[in-house]
Amino acid sequence: MEETEAEAAGGVLVFAVNGERFEVSGVDPSTTLLEFLRTRTRFKSVKLGCGEGGCGACVVLLSRYDPVLDRVEDITASSCLTLLCSVNRSSITTTEGLGNSKDGFHPIHQRFSSFHASQCGFCTPGMCMSFYGALVNAEKTDRPEPSPGFSKLSVFESEKAIAGNLCRCTGYRPIADACKSFAADVDLEDLGLNSFWGKGDSEESKMSRLPPYCRKDEKCTFPKFLKKEFKSPMLLDTKRYDWYTPTTVKDLQCLLETDGTGNASLVKLVAGNTGMGYYKEAKRWEKYIDLRNIPELAIVKMDETGIEFGTTVTISKAIEALREHSKCMSSTGGGMIFRKTADHMEKIASGFIRNTASLGGNLVMAQRFHFPSDIATVLLAVDSQVTVMSGSKQERLTLEEFLERSPLDSKSVLLSIKIPTWHLRRSTASKATERLLFETYRAAPRPLGNALPYLNAAFLAEVTASEASHEIVINNCWLAFGAYGTQHAIRARKVEETLTGKVLSLSVLREVIEVVKATIVADYGTRDPAYRSSLAVGFLFKFLSPLVESRAKTVGNSLNGYKSPILDGEPNLTQHRGEFQDGQISSLLSSSTQVVELNKEYYPVGEPIKKSEAAIQASGEAVYVDDIPSPATCLYGAFIYSTKPLARVKGIRIPSSVPSNSVSSIISFQDIPDGGQNVGSKTIFGFEPLFADELAHYAGQPIALVVADTQKHADMAADSAVVDYDVDNLEMPILSLEEAVERSSFFEVAPFLYPSEVGDLSKGMAEADNKILSAKIELGSQYYFYMENQTALAVPDEDNCMVVYSSSQCPEYAHNTIASCLGILGHNVRVITRRVGGGFGGKAVRAMPVATACALAAHKLRRPVRTYLNRKTDMIMAGGRHPMKITYSVGFKSNGKITALRLDVVVDGGLSADVSPVMPMNIVSAIKKYNWGALSFDIKVCKTNHTTKSAMRAPGEVQGTFIAEAVIEHVASALSMNVDSVRNINLHSHSSLSLFYKHTAGEPQEYTVPAIWTKLALSSNLDQRIEMVKEFNGCSLWKKRGISRVPIVYEVSLRATPGKVSILNDGSVVVEVGGIEIGQGLWTKVKQMVAFALSSVQCDGTTEILKKIRVIQADTLSLIQGGFTAGSTTSEASCQAVRVCCDILVQRLSPLKSSLQEQMGSVTWEVLVDQAYNQSINLSASTYYAPDLDNMNYLNYGAAVSEVEVDLLTGETRILRVDIIYDSGKSLNPAIDLGQIEGAFIQGLGFFMLEEYLTNSEGLVVADGTWTYKIPTLDTIPKEFNVEILNSGHHQKRVLSSKASGEPPLLLAVSIHCAARAAIKEARKQLLSWSGHDESDSIFQLGVPATMPVVKGLCGLNSVESYLDWALGKEQKV
Ligand SMILES: Cc1cc2nc3c(=O)[nH]c(=O)nc-3n(C[C@H](O)[C@H](O)[C@H](O)COP(=O)(O)OP(=O)(O)OC[C@H]3O[C@@H](n4cnc5c(N)ncnc54)[C@H](O)[C@@H]3O)c2cc1C
Ligand code: FES
Ligand code: FES
Repeated sequence: MEETEAEAAGGVLVFAVNGERFEVSGVDPSTTLLEFLRTRTRFKSVKLGCGEGGCGACVVLLSRYDPVLDRVEDITASSCLTLLCSVNRSSITTTEGLGNSKDGFHPIHQRFSSFHASQCGFCTPGMCMSFYGALVNAEKTDRPEPSPGFSKLSVFESEKAIAGNLCRCTGYRPIADACKSFAADVDLEDLGLNSFWGKGDSEESKMSRLPPYCRKDEKCTFPKFLKKEFKSPMLLDTKRYDWYTPTTVKDLQCLLETDGTGNASLVKLVAGNTGMGYYKEAKRWEKYIDLRNIPELAIVKMDETGIEFGTTVTISKAIEALREHSKCMSSTGGGMIFRKTADHMEKIASGFIRNTASLGGNLVMAQRFHFPSDIATVLLAVDSQVTVMSGSKQERLTLEEFLERSPLDSKSVLLSIKIPTWHLRRSTASKATERLLFETYRAAPRPLGNALPYLNAAFLAEVTASEASHEIVINNCWLAFGAYGTQHAIRARKVEETLTGKVLSLSVLREVIEVVKATIVADYGTRDPAYRSSLAVGFLFKFLSPLVESRAKTVGNSLNGYKSPILDGEPNLTQHRGEFQDGQISSLLSSSTQVVELNKEYYPVGEPIKKSEAAIQASGEAVYVDDIPSPATCLYGAFIYSTKPLARVKGIRIPSSVPSNSVSSIISFQDIPDGGQNVGSKTIFGFEPLFADELAHYAGQPIALVVADTQKHADMAADSAVVDYDVDNLEMPILSLEEAVERSSFFEVAPFLYPSEVGDLSKGMAEADNKILSAKIELGSQYYFYMENQTALAVPDEDNCMVVYSSSQCPEYAHNTIASCLGILGHNVRVITRRVGGGFGGKAVRAMPVATACALAAHKLRRPVRTYLNRKTDMIMAGGRHPMKITYSVGFKSNGKITALRLDVVVDGGLSADVSPVMPMNIVSAIKKYNWGALSFDIKVCKTNHTTKSAMRAPGEVQGTFIAEAVIEHVASALSMNVDSVRNINLHSHSSLSLFYKHTAGEPQEYTVPAIWTKLALSSNLDQRIEMVKEFNGCSLWKKRGISRVPIVYEVSLRATPGKVSILNDGSVVVEVGGIEIGQGLWTKVKQMVAFALSSVQCDGTTEILKKIRVIQADTLSLIQGGFTAGSTTSEASCQAVRVCCDILVQRLSPLKSSLQEQMGSVTWEVLVDQAYNQSINLSASTYYAPDLDNMNYLNYGAAVSEVEVDLLTGETRILRVDIIYDSGKSLNPAIDLGQIEGAFIQGLGFFMLEEYLTNSEGLVVADGTWTYKIPTLDTIPKEFNVEILNSGHHQKRVLSSKASGEPPLLLAVSIHCAARAAIKEARKQLLSWSGHDESDSIFQLGVPATMPVVKGLCGLNSVESYLDWALGKEQKV
């Protein structure tokens, strides 16, 4: 037996990362795999997006070897939750291990980059690994061999593989396409724009261009050397590790009994450790006991009485086993129950969590910590049992008994879980049939999972159906509900009793619903309690109503114009659920089209080339700020923030639970050096203090930066810091807009920034036939949710200088802020930014305090200091989009033509001005998209004791567009008119556009909204679909559809920006620009522009020049006046700047080129450059491009048609189809613009439908992680998403006729909100018809975001009751 040196010494973890052997000793058992990989290896591709299992940025492939079966198990896992000690003897593969720039990229990397599936790239490594895991496992199946070049995966599996991973940039469609390109059943025709093939290429030619996926070439995930480890006993030095790996239950018992700590609460049983994602425990336990090496706890045992799972069986394994065993069982009895249980389990978390999360861990979390478990609910309904071990005693309990017991003590262990087999019993009575019915339900913001449910339920019933009488009797039932704000899942006994023995009828249903409502009552403090009760009602109704023998059938099947499938049928025991049948989803996305028109005029500008660096982003080689290796002696910071809105800070104490000597310093305003200022961010409108001084002004305001030896210790110290506050004799903080108005707490908006009114309001109002007066709407905030949290690294340099690496959209401003804070001259500071892992405005002003705090700490401690904010702190401090309240009055004619609009808007700017004074201008600019006749407004930006609000993608404009649509919808409702007609009649002509946008309307032919409007109607088949929606709504009782077409107008402004182009002596070109690469493809467009502009020198080889160009990081001393990367125009301005530089260089080179050409006939680029060097021609040119004042502002246009389907029982809105036409002029790069359009739209979808950035009553953000803040995922985006980029021709005043694409398309997402409103309108009409009220009462405001509770609230929390009352009434009449 070979034994390594380290093993002989005992206590070594042995594992492999990307085939490299690692032997690690003396590990703190609370170390996560992510922490280890990022801080102690060169593999930085695992990214920290959330640290709680909710984003997938950290996914790795974890391979374990089973020496008995000689088999390797490969699973994806979140490295942020996997403990390092638990990977002993495992092999870890990260995306670097699949391929790289040196050895060649993996086809996954190549396809991600060429399908344009990576923008900022921060999510890309995790996406690649989630997909790779699915790929590897599909190969192990015995499915038929796929065609060469494809994998055994199906399209649906490819989509599901990445459904738990978050991406904030792309909108997911291109990522899904990249993955689907591997699927055996893919139709290449269905895949979107990519740089492999063009339109019209044959299938063979497409196939030949895809980078080959050769399954045989796949690297073995488990290195040979690691297999040898299994021959030696596992030796973990428990004295040093406190990590125990018992291999029998007996050992486990002994360990628990002889617990040397004497304090059981210091012992932690570990299975998958995913529970840490929810509880985020920072505490280091005295003793960790890994349960996963005990074979008895990992068994799956099936016999005729049921299936028994050992407690450590993972959810993924349980799903597999349930499905496998269900195949040999009755499909209508126990098999069906197993299958449906597995289907439900597949909606828990995401694949990479289910692969390590154990059944036992889940149930213990439910039992001990009241976790809203799905497993507890489903298993409760099928009468499961568990075995619990306490000391030497083992006890079998029903799951219900287990849940109802007092919390399991830390010395007790859950050993196994048993799901009994349910048998189908046949009645002897000839005319009766007994059946077993089972369904499970969950209502959650994301249908495929990765979102906790508002409520879940599982219902099992034994029923007898009499064929003679068409009656169905419930003999027995097991009804479980959970996750609705209750301590644990419950059996609804009273409801069960009410049903048992009853012949199902409408009146029984009506009766039982009241019992459900009385039973399913959320605990005090739960959000949306009435909604949750209504879900319980809805689900039970969904379960039972198809079984009700409907006497109402005789009342006819047309209900006030609504056909009722429920009332139209025989008693049905085959569980045909009509419209309740959600159906087996066969794919998440359907084929979508992208129409782009290529423009060859300025080649290679206009080519849809892939984003530069996309491949290294996929392979994990791209270096983000936190990937820069820590310099020696580096320290780590974490912010301590105020939890009070207005309070004196009297002191800060770090408790003793934080490891002693780990904290170096607590940096606060008192550490500002002489001559420096307490400034954390600066804009032209003012500044915000870096730290609260004696007084904290908002919850979330930084008070101090605690500096420690590791990021973990810094976070631990900041998290547990005790701040001593005092609020005596302080005035009340301003926490509402009303209070701000009352106290006249406003930011000054300079007159030149304040928008101009249009027309004469009183005249417009006088012309109106109708008026709506003082209607109110309000809008909340939105969090940026860049995948890379705020981060910076400050390194003190010689002579009182400071170099700061910052993930910033405006290094120049960070630079100035740092210099002011430290009280040093600007030339002593250097801020470097290479790339930003997503910004969306949040890495502009809000990144400055992070860079400045690190610089201040580094300055004081004379050591490098870095920080990477954790997601919670980031969310609490970030600020986000501006909330606002709007009051409007509108006058309009009877034909829908609006004659006057008056708006009073109050905007919450938070504590500091930031860039908030631009809000009035931005809001009004977007509102002006319609011809309001006259437009008048009063907009106040309020100063409050909330976090400072900053620009977020389309700041003000997205709210403005919403306000405009809310007014239009209101007018349409008031007139009972079709909304589309009201929009139509109020669209601008070019002359009214010129009135509203005085200086930016451009030439008539540039105004493309009317053309887009008509074109979109045709391309989206609007008229026909409106009819289809009507038809659907007439037939469908519990689902309603809405369709809506919306235009947008978006004004942008170019800003001055520098550029520098240098040609090196080998002909390669290095470019510097003021703009920052934040994922928007700025570098790629700049490279294209440089290639285009230099090619005008016209020598041989310039067509190849694109490959020789590199854009390098922004460095504020190398290129000054970089300004802000914001406002959608930085790419084109940077392009223009480098174009000017190139023109200068071409001018310098041209005479030489002519003379060389005369001498040599033809001149290559390299020879030309070589000769230029010989002749001392200056081959570096720089410029500061300042746009012409007359042309710096212009308008962008687009329109979208969205169709949605609303589930009236749950309030869920599914987006069936979206069609967009967006005018991007002559696109500089259509692939990149397409990515911007789709990504922005999906971010807008999040704002309008999903994302609630909630605070508590003191203004402290409480939606502070992936558990509570839900950005869109693959399963919530439009199923069909068609985008056309309109090449609107020549725009003389634009940069090579191009237009912006970064922000405007976000506004188009309002069409989804409008479509949802249309669907809800139908639901309300139906509801009113049931209660006999006037149908015209359809005026309502749909809140933003239109989450499930909001939508359900408007569709009727009591809609089931209303329906039944109505149906019963009809029945009685007959
Ligand atoms: C992002 C995310 C989303 C999720 N979404 C859902 C969801 O939608 N629905 C849902 O139901 N669940 C959900 N979960 C919860 C998930 O199912 C649990 O985290 C997981 O099953 C716990 O198993 P584990 O092996 O990781 O447990 P661990 O984290 O190892 O343990 C959890 C707790 O149980 C204790 N423990 C573990 N095993 C035993 C045992 N045998 N006896 C006694 N104590 C034990 C541990 O000491 C610890 O306190 C989600 C989890 C994550 C991370
Ligand atoms: S960082 Fe691990 S899942 Fe988000
Ligand atoms: S590319 Fe996915 S988060 Fe930026």
